[in-house]
Amino acid sequence: MKKKSLLIIAVFILLFCACKKDKTVGFIAEKAMVVSAREEASKIGAAILQKGGNAYDAMIATHLALAVVYPVAGNIGGGGFMVYRNNDGTTGALDFREKAPITAHRDMYLDSVGNVIKNKSTLGAFAVGVPGSIAGVFEVYNKFGSLPFKDLIQPAIDLAINGITVTEKQAKSLNSATERFKKVNNYITVFEKEWKKGDILKQEELAQTLERIRDLGKDGFYKGKTASLFVNYVKELGGIISLEDLEKYKAIWRKPITFNYKDFKITSMTLPASGGICLAQILKAVEPYDLSKIEHNSTKYIQLLTEAERRSYADRANFLGDIDFVNVPVDSLTNVKYINNRMKSFSWDKATPSSEVSHGKIIGYESDETTHYSIVDQFGNAVSVTTTLNTGYGSKVVVKGAGFILNNEMDDFSSKPGVPNVYGLLGSEANSIAPEKRMLSSMTPTIVEENGKLKMVVGTPGGSTIITSVLQNILNVTEYKMGMQESVDQPRFHHQWLPDVVRMEPNGFNEETKAKLETLGYKILERNSLIIGRVDAILVLPNGKLEAGADKRGDDAAAGF
Ligand code: GLY
Repeated sequence: MKKKSLLIIAVFILLFCACKKDKTVGFIAEKAMVVSAREEASKIGAAILQKGGNAYDAMIATHLALAVVYPVAGNIGGGGFMVYRNNDGTTGALDFREKAPITAHRDMYLDSVGNVIKNKSTLGAFAVGVPGSIAGVFEVYNKFGSLPFKDLIQPAIDLAINGITVTEKQAKSLNSATERFKKVNNYITVFEKEWKKGDILKQEELAQTLERIRDLGKDGFYKGKTASLFVNYVKELGGIISLEDLEKYKAIWRKPITFNYKDFKITSMTLPASGGICLAQILKAVEPYDLSKIEHNSTKYIQLLTEAERRSYADRANFLGDIDFVNVPVDSLTNVKYINNRMKSFSWDKATPSSEVSHGKIIGYESDETTHYSIVDQFGNAVSVTTTLNTGYGSKVVVKGAGFILNNEMDDFSSKPGVPNVYGLLGSEANSIAPEKRMLSSMTPTIVEENGKLKMVVGTPGGSTIITSVLQNILNVTEYKMGMQESVDQPRFHHQWLPDVVRMEPNGFNEETKAKLETLGYKILERNSLIIGRVDAILVLPNGKLEAGADKRGDDAAAGF
């Protein structure tokens, strides 16, 4: 009898364990952490924190290390955005987005009959925007840096001289870009060879450029030898960036978008990044629904988020652009009444076709590769940075003699209204090209607070899918009470108004859910090559420790203490 009841208990425990989903817990640190696309960069950032540096010092070291160890998106030839929250609760944002060259013009990617010329805004020197990363790094340093700058940049220089160990994923990525490096450049770049896991990639010319930045500051990039090498090579290849463009570039401190979602305060990036506005619109559209009654990643959950996303991306395409050039009705777009009104056409019974969803009516105007890293320091400051060259290895132009890759961010403008960019995103006049204008971005570096305390630092690459990946991770943690790694591991889906498809990560969703969605009129797209974000995030646990969410979709890793 005793044996029998023990057996029943054992069977019950076994069944319970089998039903319980695996919950992966991420790397835990007591007080300080960096999570980025590569272990080397996270360790360099964490070592700066260990030396007594703050989150901003670590930001600079991590950013520069990524430019060496993660050339697909880490960069000094690109740009990005930073959102921060200091330990006293103050928040802010830095825009170091690229901008159009002075001689850029609205129709520069169109042929004589007004058609978009294929690849002109994505491949080669004509696709390059004026880079902002180094200006961004020095803005951060001048406002918040505490350690000597040379200590922050030297690890990246050493990494470039000694070489980085190529991972399996990186070898595949580099090999897939070889033909395009060859096509674009007029010499053999350091990135062209048949790479395999374990190879060492040394970048001597990049090290020399970083040394000039170490010794001369911002002028080591925007003036002098680096600037001449940059401009001369771009000209040789038919590009239009001038010395004046480089000299005039400025990173801009901006007021971030701040809003509440239920009990949480969310701070995210403002224009020219669309992330914060779209995130606010989508979360506000979802807020009236009781998610405790809607199962995570169920048909209903996917429906609700998809319909909110559809309406927000339609607004994105019509209204959003560089706020310094166009009048964007930010307050109206993020107004709860307006958002609820937009959701009135949503029905649980069938999909709203995107052809029936245009942008909303605003009464009166008031106004793929990318990479993300999250940092929390031992003083309680938090930094959320997303940076990019745009698509993998940007324009594929590697500045001869200077060793860094240039972005192809000009493709984030709308080359022609109604013609999608590389991410399938549409744009309007608001995001048309103009001299010195910043192109609209989807980047969404974000910080979440609960009861006035830091809760989460989050962001991701992924082009147009950035916003929806950040959104899903915020809901995973705030609504579904997941840990950080558990949240990052969840399969993700994405809708962006047009094309009218729900993109889903392969093998992530059950067949019944997909079948039900199709019955309701949703078109589903599942393809192996789809990138739906690579989230690197930090969660502050109830005991004050930090849990990392380092995305297993890449080589991402956390470091801390
Ligand atoms: N280049 C991608 C983005 O900024 O959204």
